[in-house]
Amino acid sequence: MRISKRVADLPPYLFVEISKKIAEKRAKGEDVVSFAIGDPDIPTPPHIIARLCQAAQDPANHRYPETEGLPKLRQAIARWYQSRFGVSLDADKEVLPLIGSKEGIAHIALCFIDPEDIALVPDPAYPVYSVSTMLAGGSPYYMPLVEANNFLPDLDTIPADVLRRAKLLWLNYPNNPTGAVADLDFFNRAVKFARRHDLAICHDGPYSEVAFDGYQPVSFMQADGTKEIGVEFHSLSKSYNMTGWRVGMVVGNAEMIDALKRLKSNLDSGIPNAIQHAAIEALTGAQDCIQEHNAIYQRRRDLVIDMLNSIGLEAKPPKASLYVWAKVPQGYTSRDFATDLLDKVGVVVTPGVSYGKNGEGYIRLSLTIPDAALVKGLSRLAGWRRNRSRTEQKIT
Ligand SMILES: Cc1ncc(COP(=O)(O)O)c(C=O)c1O
Repeated sequence: MRISKRVADLPPYLFVEISKKIAEKRAKGEDVVSFAIGDPDIPTPPHIIARLCQAAQDPANHRYPETEGLPKLRQAIARWYQSRFGVSLDADKEVLPLIGSKEGIAHIALCFIDPEDIALVPDPAYPVYSVSTMLAGGSPYYMPLVEANNFLPDLDTIPADVLRRAKLLWLNYPNNPTGAVADLDFFNRAVKFARRHDLAICHDGPYSEVAFDGYQPVSFMQADGTKEIGVEFHSLSKSYNMTGWRVGMVVGNAEMIDALKRLKSNLDSGIPNAIQHAAIEALTGAQDCIQEHNAIYQRRRDLVIDMLNSIGLEAKPPKASLYVWAKVPQGYTSRDFATDLLDKVGVVVTPGVSYGKNGEGYIRLSLTIPDAALVKGLSRLAGWRRNRSRTEQKIT
C-alpha cells in the first residue's frame, strides 16, 4: 500500500498532537488543566437542542439532505446578516450552508488554487488556510501579523512576483490566535488591493459574536464592493456553542459560492436536516445566550490577563475572540515554555509557533475552560512563577 504524497507530506493537525499529549499524561494519572482548544465548554442553549430533538423525530428529516441546505436555513442566514450587519444577501445565490466552516474553508482552495498558484495567508493563523492551499497543489505566501501593525497584514510589502501568481487572499478577524480585530477601513483597503491585483478575498469570521466590553465586530461584507470580489465564512460553533453539531456558512460573491457548491455537490450531501432546523432556531430564536456567554468569557478573560500580568507575562485583553495571546518570558521559545508549563505544573497552552513562525515568542490560552478548571490552572501558573523565582534565587 502506498499513501499519496499529498497526504504523506501533511503535517499532523495541531490539536491532534496536543490532545495526544494530554491523553498520555492523563493515562499516567496526571491531572492536566488545558487552555489549549477553542471548543466552548458551555452547552448548546436548550431551545436549540429542543428544536433538534423535535426535528429528529420527523421522518422527513431522516433522508439525504441537499448540498445547498434547506431554503429556510439559507433565508435565516440572509435575514441574520441583514439584522446583525445591515448586509443584504440573495438567499439562493449568495448563501451556502457548510458542514462546519472548516469544511468550506478547506474545500474552497480546490475551487481556486491550481498547481503553481499562491494563496496569501496570515502568519500566525488557523492552519487550514495554508494546508488546504498545499493540498490543492499551490503554495501559501505568509503575510506576517505583528503587534507593531496591530496584527494586520501589511499588504503593500507583498512582492510583485508573488502577487502575479496569487489568487486568494485570506483574512480572519476577530483573529485566531492573536485576538486582534479589524475595522471597516482595513477591509475597504483590502478590497481595493484585491481589485488592483485580481485576487479573491476569503474572510473568515467565526468569532464576530464573541466580543467584550460592548465592542461589536464588523463583518467583512459591510465593506464597499465585497460581493464583487469576496466571501465571508461564518459559523454557529462559537456563537451558539455548537461545535459538536457542525454548522457553518459562506456568504458573498455568487460566482465563488457557485464554484464551492459545484465542488461540494460531488463530495458531500450537506448538513443533516435535523441539525439544519436547530441552526434555523439558533439564528432566528432568542439571542440572549450570546450576551450571557460573552459575560462568562469576559470574566474569564479578565482573570487570565490579571494572572498572566501578575506573573510577569505581557498580555493585553482582547476585544473579541476566545483567545488570550501572551508573550513568553525571556529566554524561552514558545514550545519550550509550553513544555515547561505542562511538565512542571500540568497546564496546557498552545505554543504560538504552531500557528506560524511569527507566532514565536507567544502562547495562546483559550477561554473555553470551565470556571473551576480555570481557577485551578491559574493557581498552577502562580505556582510555576514561585518555583521559578526560587530557582533563580538559588542560581544567583
Ligand atoms: C479562525 C477559525 N476559522 C474556522 C474555524 C472552524 O470552525 P467550525 O468548523 O467549527 O465552524 C475555527 C475553529 O476553531 C477557527 O478558529
